[in-house]
Amino acid sequence: MTAQQSAGTPGLAREAPPNTPPDTHWGDPHPLHDPWILAHFQARPSDVLITTAPKAGTTWMQQILHQLRTGGDDTFEDIDTVVPWLERQRPPQTWQQVLAGFAAHPDPRLFKTHCTWEQTPGREIARLILTVRDPRDCCVSFYHHLMDMTDSALAAHGLERPASLEAHVEAWLAFGAWFRNLGSWWPQRERDNLLMLRYSDLKADLPGAIQRIAAFLGWPVTPRTLEQAVQLSSFAWMKANSQRFAGRNADGSPLFRPGGFIRKGQTGDHTTQLTADQEARILGRCRQELPADCLAYLGLD
Ligand code: A3P
Repeated sequence: MTAQQSAGTPGLAREAPPNTPPDTHWGDPHPLHDPWILAHFQARPSDVLITTAPKAGTTWMQQILHQLRTGGDDTFEDIDTVVPWLERQRPPQTWQQVLAGFAAHPDPRLFKTHCTWEQTPGREIARLILTVRDPRDCCVSFYHHLMDMTDSALAAHGLERPASLEAHVEAWLAFGAWFRNLGSWWPQRERDNLLMLRYSDLKADLPGAIQRIAAFLGWPVTPRTLEQAVQLSSFAWMKANSQRFAGRNADGSPLFRPGGFIRKGQTGDHTTQLTADQEARILGRCRQELPADCLAYLGLD
């Protein structure tokens, strides 16, 4: 039995030798991508997986879902403890310990992942929610993400600070995660267990978007819960509490300099930062890789 076939097989996590790489389907090991966790994760029907591409509103959705689930919780210190990043390595824990920790979370469990549709475990079992965001804004947001990370956090996550915005745009295009991610999720958008929203939809009408999310999940929402969720997932509240959303090093120290990560929260920020040529390269790649209806959905047609 390959690791790919075995995903979702109860008990396999105890039987598998810890260092046998799973099927290549689950990708290569990286501090931010543990194929063993993906191969052995046991999804539940009550799970909700946030499958947003990096910088497209992942953390915002973590906060919205956690607030809907709890009816309003401003006591957590780190969003990752209540809505963990599924595939992230967590040294010194082994992948078995990480999965045992996830198994102990109460239902409904919430996770974030940056995996493609093909690599998301439990994609047929769990509910899936993602926001999509203008790639030009994602690219700019990622640049600031790397610039605002501390040196120790960059090293721990196998990342490097770009020499310039131009170097970043080139590297971002070459890595291509945004294109891979949306290219993989777009064909799945009509699935009953998937809700796709735009970052700009949330910006335009946050209460309306939160009600849509709750209706999709079938979670009852009182006016008080809605009010709490809107307030606690506002940009102002998240910016004022940014240390709760910016992640931590293993020793508990911040991953980002103060004011980083929950940064500007705007649509169209790229207009102030990218050159016409950089923008043209990103849009050209979109036209090469994505279908016309997807471009129209993002307002890129
Ligand atoms: P900017 O860098 O453009 O400000 P992710 O969580 O996927 O990494 O995305 C991070 C981006 O989402 C950042 O964008 C961040 O500011 C933005 N963001 C986080 N919370 C937000 C909120 N409540 N409202 C608007 N944008 C938010």
